[in-house]
Amino acid sequence: MFRRTVSLTSFLSFIVLAVTSVVLYIQPHGRVAYWADWSLWGLSKTQWGDIHLTVGTLFLICAILHVWLNWKPVMTYMKNAARELVFFTRPMVYACVLTVFVTAGTLLHIPPMQQLMDLGTWFKDRATATYGNPPYGHAELSPLVKFCGYMGFDLEKAMQALKTKGFTNKVAPETPLLELAEANDTTPQGIYEAIRSALAPDPFAALPPAPPEGTGKMTLADLCAAYGLPLDAAVKKLENAGVTASAGTTLKDMAAAAGKSPRDLYSILRTAE
Ligand code: HEM
Repeated sequence: MFRRTVSLTSFLSFIVLAVTSVVLYIQPHGRVAYWADWSLWGLSKTQWGDIHLTVGTLFLICAILHVWLNWKPVMTYMKNAARELVFFTRPMVYACVLTVFVTAGTLLHIPPMQQLMDLGTWFKDRATATYGNPPYGHAELSPLVKFCGYMGFDLEKAMQALKTKGFTNKVAPETPLLELAEANDTTPQGIYEAIRSALAPDPFAALPPAPPEGTGKMTLADLCAAYGLPLDAAVKKLENAGVTASAGTTLKDMAAAAGKSPRDLYSILRTAE
């Protein structure tokens, strides 16, 4: 009974662990997830991480019990044809080589480990382009007055803009963006967009004063998608400043080719022509 329960629990917890692993692999970075109030099948990033940790622990406990309950067959793997106990049997050598290859290969950035890591980065960058970066870390926790101050928006006009857009609940200087968003059935990103589109019709001028973390690694196309910038106009602005710009190149690479820093390129985009 105990043996079967352990085996079945390992099996079921492994399935939950595998599903949560895939979700953790493809989900947005924390700053993006909290800014856009990201969820999948009704669960937030934190909840997916919590389930992964607790069910992962259950799986580990069951896996240890499983080995303990099957100690005899495990020992037979460690014996040679003469039934002598040998640690380095041929399967054990293969297992060691595979494990060392994957571990060392990860640190040396060799295929296929590097491709697996690159794919994860690709999913996270896609999510950043789709949901947008917060202007600064945990901007969703800032009261409206602090957020407007940082972004250079007039507070009274911002509150008016929100009401005009139909976001009428809890519109007050001290309401944190996240609370304001939840009260109006939208996301912190939605609140920002409502204010930005009303107060700063030129989306370039409404870019956050300092480039948010991770901006240098974004392609121009992704940056434009994240902040609602027209791509053609962004390319033109950069080209006018002597930068060879293309949609699929990151700010970091364009800056390096032009002998500038990603921050310089960001300023060029932000500045009115
Ligand atoms: C089937 C085996 C497992 C796979 C494929 C897996 C995969 C992953 C992935 C893809 C992430 C996200 C990494 C990132 O943010 O880029 C993650 C995070 C994590 N994993 Fe696992 N995992 C496995 C087993 C476990 C086990 C057994 C435990 C512990 C009991 C565990 C604990 C954690 C923790 C604590 C995090 C960080 C979660 C967070 O950021 O909120 N994992 N894992």
